Amino acid sequence: MCGIVGYVGQQNVVDVVMGGLRRLEYRGYDSAGVAVVAGDEVLVRRRAGKLANLEKLLADKPLPAATFGMGHTRWATHGAPNDRNAHPHLDEAAKVAVVHNGIIENFAALRSHLEDNGVTLASDTDTEVVSHLLAEQFDGDLAEAMRAVCRKLEGAFTLVAVHADQPDVVVGARRNSPLVVGRGDGENFLGSDVSAFIAHTRHAVELGQDQVVELRADRVDVTTFDGQPAEVREYEVDWDASAAEKGGYDYFMLKEIYEQPKAVADTLLGRIDDEGLLQLDEMRLSDEDLRDVDKIVIIGCGTAFHSGLIAKYSIEHWTRIPVEVEVASEFRYRDPILGRRTLVIAISQSGETMDTLMAIRHAREQGSRVLAICNVNGSTIPRESDAVVYTYAGPEIAVASTKAFLTQIIAVHLVALYLAQVRGMKWSDEIARHVDDLAAMPEAVDRVLDTVGPVRALARELVDARAVLFLGRHVGFPVALEGALKLKELAYMHAEGFPAGELKHGPIALIEEGLPVVVVVPPLSRKVLHDKIVSNIQEIRARGARTIVIAEEGDDTVAPYADTLIPVPAVPTLLQPVVAIVPLQVFACELASAKGYDVDQPRNLAKSVTVE
Ligand code: G6P
Repeated sequence: MCGIVGYVGQQNVVDVVMGGLRRLEYRGYDSAGVAVVAGDEVLVRRRAGKLANLEKLLADKPLPAATFGMGHTRWATHGAPNDRNAHPHLDEAAKVAVVHNGIIENFAALRSHLEDNGVTLASDTDTEVVSHLLAEQFDGDLAEAMRAVCRKLEGAFTLVAVHADQPDVVVGARRNSPLVVGRGDGENFLGSDVSAFIAHTRHAVELGQDQVVELRADRVDVTTFDGQPAEVREYEVDWDASAAEKGGYDYFMLKEIYEQPKAVADTLLGRIDDEGLLQLDEMRLSDEDLRDVDKIVIIGCGTAFHSGLIAKYSIEHWTRIPVEVEVASEFRYRDPILGRRTLVIAISQSGETMDTLMAIRHAREQGSRVLAICNVNGSTIPRESDAVVYTYAGPEIAVASTKAFLTQIIAVHLVALYLAQVRGMKWSDEIARHVDDLAAMPEAVDRVLDTVGPVRALARELVDARAVLFLGRHVGFPVALEGALKLKELAYMHAEGFPAGELKHGPIALIEEGLPVVVVVPPLSRKVLHDKIVSNIQEIRARGARTIVIAEEGDDTVAPYADTLIPVPAVPTLLQPVVAIVPLQVFACELASAKGYDVDQPRNLAKSVTVE
C-alpha cells in the first residue's frame, strides 16, 4: 500500500530510487514518481500507471544527476490515480517535496486552514497538505519542521521529505505505517520495507512509532515527534537481493509457488531443542500465562484469515481450548469479549496490515495477550505482540499470497503443538511424531509441483468459464475459500468457496451445465466426511457441473465422478491444506496468464494494506 524509497549518498539518486521502486511496486501501482534536489529547487517526475510509465517519462525528460531524493509508488486512497495526484507533492514555491503512505484523517481541516491562508492546492490528495505545512513550518531544519507537522496529523502515515534549502538531508516520519532505514557506507536509505535497499545493504534499522528520522550520507538521527532522542533496533536482513528477483520464472508468483518446499522447511528449522521440546521465536509469555488461557481468538485478513480457519481445527483438536476465528477488520467493532485469559493470535505475512494491527491494539487494551505469526522480521505487528512465531518464507513479492500461506499453516500447527506441550496435553514423543509429519511436507509439496502439468492445461481450457465454485469440508473448507480467493484476485472471475455440506442449503441453485466445480476431498481415513463429500460430488454432477476433484493418491472411489482428478500425496488430515492448495494456486496463476492479466500485480489490489 504505497511504496517509499529515500536516499542520500554518493550514487545518482534516480538510479537508486528507481531500483528500490521496482522492488516495491507490489505495494501499489496506480502511479509512481521521484523527486531530486538540483540547485535551489526540487525537481519532480511523476506519472499515472505502472512504473514503466515513469521510466519512459524519465527517458524523455531526464532529471539531473543528484545525490539525495526519494520516490514513491502509489495505491490510491484520496484522489483518482492520475498524474496530478501522483506523489511526490510540492509546496507552492517548489522547495519541499513529500511522499506519503497511509491516510491523514484530519486532512480536510488542515486543507481549510491552508486555503484560509491563501494556499492553492494542486491535487485531491490528503498528502499534499503536508508539503504546504512543512513549507509553513520550515526554518532551516526540515526534521524540526517534520516533527511540528506530525504533531498536527491524525491517522496513519509514513512520510519522507526533502527541502531545496537543506542539501543532503532526507527526513522521514512514521506513525502506524512502515518505514525502515538501510545503513550503508557513506550512504543511507529509507524504504517501506528492506527490499527497497537490499541491493545495497543488509544492515537495517527499525523505526518505532511516532518517530522522525533525519538521514545524511554519514549519519542517521532518530527522535520522537517531541524531539527526544529515540532508541532504535539495528538488525541484519537474512536474505539477499537475489531472493527478490524472478530467477528465471515468468512471474514472481510462479517462483514463489515453487519455493514452497523450501519455505516450509525453513519455517520448521531449529524448532526442537536438545530435550525434544518445541521452541518458538520470541516468547514473552510465561508457561503459566499459556496454561491460564481459556479462549483463543485468531484474526487475520485475506489469505492469513484462511490460515486462521485451519488453525482452529488443529488448536481445538490438540489443546481443547475453544477457538474463534475472525476477519480482523470486523473484530474490534463488535465489542468482542476479551480478557486476561484470552490469547489473540494475529496472522499476517507483512506484519503491517492496518486492520490486523488495530485489532491487536484493541485486544491488548482489553488486557489480552497477543501472539503474532508473521513473515517480516521487525515489522509492526510482531513488535507490538507478546510473542512471535516467524514464518521463514523469505520475501513474498507477488500480490497474491502463496508461500506465506503454506508457512502460516505450518506455524499455526507449531503453535497448537506448543500449547499442547506447555499445557501437558501431549508428551514430547507425540509432539515429535507430529513434527515429523510436518517435516515430511516439503517433499509432499515437491511431489505436487512435479505433477501440476495437467492443472495448467485445465486452466487454459477453462479460460472462458464465467465462474468457478470451490467446495470442501473440515480443513478442506478454508482450502476452498483460498482457492476461490486466488481466482478472484488473479483472474477477476466470479469464484466462491463453500462448505460442501451447505451446498444443499442454497449454492446448489448455482449449478448449471458445464459450471466448473472444484471439490477438495478429505482423506480416505476420514471415512464419514469422505463419503459425504463423494455424495456431494454426485449431486452436482447430476446437475451438469464439471467436476474437478482434488483427492489423495490411491483414492479410487472418487474417480468415477471426477471429470478431472487431481491426486495429491496422502498426508494427515490436518495437513491436507498444505498439499491441496498448491494445484489451486497453479490453476489461478495459469488462468490469469492465459487471460493475459498481470499475474504479479492484479488490478486494484496491493500486497500490504496499511489503511483500514
Ligand atoms: C492483502 C493481500 C492479501 C493478503 C492480505 C493480508 O489483501 O492482497 O494477499 O492475504 O492483504 O495481508 P497480511 O500481510 O496481513 O498477511
